Amino acid sequence: MKVLVIGSGAREHALCRSLSLDPVVTALHCAPGNAGIAEVAELHQVDALDGAAVSALATELGADLVVVGPEAPLVAGVADAVREAGIPVFGPSKEAARLEGSKAFAKDVMAGADVPTARSYVCTTPEEVAEALNAFGAPYVVKDDGLAAGKGVVVTGDVEAAREHAAACDRVVIEEYLDGPEVSLFAITDGETVLPLQPAQDFKRALDGDEGPNTGGMGAYSPLPWADPALVDEVLQTVLQPTVDELRRRGTPFSGLLYAGLAITGRGVRVIEFNARFGDPETQVVLARLRTPLAGILMAAATGNLADLEPLRWSDEAAVTVVVASHNYPGTPRTGDPITGLDEVAAKDAPHAYVLHAGTRAEGGAVLSAGGRVLSVTATGADLTEARDRAYTAVARIGLDGSQHRTDIAAKAAADA
Ligand code: AMP
Ligand code: GLY
Repeated sequence: MKVLVIGSGAREHALCRSLSLDPVVTALHCAPGNAGIAEVAELHQVDALDGAAVSALATELGADLVVVGPEAPLVAGVADAVREAGIPVFGPSKEAARLEGSKAFAKDVMAGADVPTARSYVCTTPEEVAEALNAFGAPYVVKDDGLAAGKGVVVTGDVEAAREHAAACDRVVIEEYLDGPEVSLFAITDGETVLPLQPAQDFKRALDGDEGPNTGGMGAYSPLPWADPALVDEVLQTVLQPTVDELRRRGTPFSGLLYAGLAITGRGVRVIEFNARFGDPETQVVLARLRTPLAGILMAAATGNLADLEPLRWSDEAAVTVVVASHNYPGTPRTGDPITGLDEVAAKDAPHAYVLHAGTRAEGGAVLSAGGRVLSVTATGADLTEARDRAYTAVARIGLDGSQHRTDIAAKAAADA
């Protein structure tokens, strides 16, 4: 099977790594990719948001399957363009990807499917904003309605900060604050059959102890020793299947990866958000534990054959991933700095720990930082403590001037396990 992956983050590196280990994959291509992905896939320069260019590349390569990684191309309709060219594609249509692209649309789908989520108001004027903030009280949750790479959400006790964020957006969703631990649960779906993966937890705040601003995600771990073993099945029944059924009923079936961001509140599970693609960095830990070869799963989803797939097999090992970010992330990051220690990790820590690249580029034999989240170090172990130790041992070998990472990824779960 010839596979083309679209994207350039650590998520795409994790996808490419798993695909490169799958014996049915005879050729692996990625566009645009990064310096790490170049080690496992052939890179191509293409504008990932240009559906015509992506489908032309897929046709030229004779790709049997195209996997669209990030949300922006999905929301731009890239999967539709590839599907129209007659090539199986893993990723939802533009219409179905609105589940991520518009928070207001997601709320409407959840209301239609009776899926538990925070009560919310969609506001477009300062008066509506003031009324909604007043109705819910502190802490205030204010979300930009459009795509914002995980950075459009402000959760604050300060009503002035809440008002300011709302004023900076055209349309906002203001909602009830959800208390309790967060879980990311991914499901593969062909629009009908829904196959949940293993749950993971993401660390969204920039600094240790969940301080600082929201980011795209600073680390993750799986499994969740503290979670109820019935959680996955409950979310399948109350969230994932009803949402997939509702989108099919509306004539916009969702195929690809449905990501449920959940809060486990005292009153039960609530959806915080949906995403229409694999989460980053959760994908790094979920795929580290998946034993079933990946290409067949993605192809079954792309071609409507998930019902025929054997149950997924999982490793009993734990996995931890730690993101190394540039100076000033999630603000405008400093880029162009050399990254050292990558060879040392490969020599000393593999196969239990490895580096997945995000914002990197190769220049004359050196690897340079090229984005906010630069790379993530992923490690497996018999339990979270061992996986954590291995991940941080490898992180310590990496040199990047001014870089930052959290030191407490999976610390509490490992200590409590
Ligand atoms: P989102 O982009 O909707 O996932 O929001 C980013 C982060 O903001 C989430 O992972 C939560 O940590 C936080 N957040 C979002 N909505 C809520 C809510 N209703 N209550 C509490 N925290 C929230
Ligand atoms: N890790 C959060 C996300 O992928 O949106």
